[in-house]
Amino acid sequence: MQPVQSIEELVQRALSSSPWEREEMLWFLREDEGNELLRAAADRVREKIFGPVVHLRAIIEFSNFCRNNCLYCGLRRDNRRLARYRMSEAELLEAAAAAVAQGFKTIVLQSGEDPLWPPQRLAPVVQEIKSLGVAVTLSVGELTYEDYALLRRAGADRYLLRHETSDPELFARLKPDSSLARRLQCLAWLKDLGYETGAGCMVGLPGQSMESIAEDILLMKELEVEMAGIGPFISHPDTPLGQEPPGSPLLALKVVALARLHLPYSNLPATTAAGVAQERGREAALTWGANVVMPDVTPHRYRLLYQLYPGKAEVDATANAFDHWQQRLLELGREVGKDLGFSARSSSASAAVGPDQSA
Ligand code: 5AD
Ligand code: SF4
Repeated sequence: MQPVQSIEELVQRALSSSPWEREEMLWFLREDEGNELLRAAADRVREKIFGPVVHLRAIIEFSNFCRNNCLYCGLRRDNRRLARYRMSEAELLEAAAAAVAQGFKTIVLQSGEDPLWPPQRLAPVVQEIKSLGVAVTLSVGELTYEDYALLRRAGADRYLLRHETSDPELFARLKPDSSLARRLQCLAWLKDLGYETGAGCMVGLPGQSMESIAEDILLMKELEVEMAGIGPFISHPDTPLGQEPPGSPLLALKVVALARLHLPYSNLPATTAAGVAQERGREAALTWGANVVMPDVTPHRYRLLYQLYPGKAEVDATANAFDHWQQRLLELGREVGKDLGFSARSSSASAAVGPDQSA
């Protein structure tokens, strides 16, 4: 049974936002016969909405302390083998200014859930980076509504909080400090506060079914997220999942393509995990519907220590990540986005003005 016959049909459906049958999605996930059809359709939708433009976002990982104990992650609090670091305000601002000087138009600030870098401390840093004329994305985990509001008032434009998995039981098992319900509450708050909101999931987690992966895509569609980070699970030896098999890089690419067909206007990064799981995996993701790359610009002395999973620090080992990607994109027939790179959905026009300037 092949549910869909043509690229045109898939493209049309994506652009008209017509719903999919779960069974159809499962067919694409389970079988490999439809892979090229899926890839080509997602690539065409990406091209129709974004053209050749790829947005580059510089990510600064400013603390690897984390109060949580997620089973998959190398930063989990019980991982005593990891040396911890915490950047200072001055180091953060220096790294951000250097990235802006390279040409980046978005600075992403990411950390573990570090109690010594609370929102009150982060807000002035956000404000300072905003004064450089760039967009600021935050990815610092689960906070209260008031804290998200504080950071939004400080000028933060976007927030990344992957939902990780849409299966509530699997979520509870892998993320014992939280729950799916709480995660979804945070995402709802972020949307409510006018952040461009990013969810996303890992693919190939131990115990994750194909049905639940299909559910991940439907959930992101329902939430109408402006961004979706999707990458394969990579086993980390110093975690309880160290002996588990890693997720399939090809399956993760298929999930990116399905996400593109469900969320034609959203920004989909070619994730670092995709680049670690497979040689030139990020370049591949850019041909499966992705339109964003987020190179790591964390100071080299800290980079090896932000080890969510092995191999992560090695993929962006270049001196000037912006030039490096500009060149790579040229080779792929793509080009670097020149604006701040907000979501292509029309409602984001007001977000481009920023919370402080809008009337
Ligand atoms: N493999 C792949 N992705 C991981 N992340 C954390 N640990 C792993 C891993 N072992 C992802 C999570 C998190 C993001 C910052 O990194 O999805 O949200
Ligand atoms: Fe902490 Fe995030 Fe890693 Fe969980 S995934 S342990 S919250 S850094």
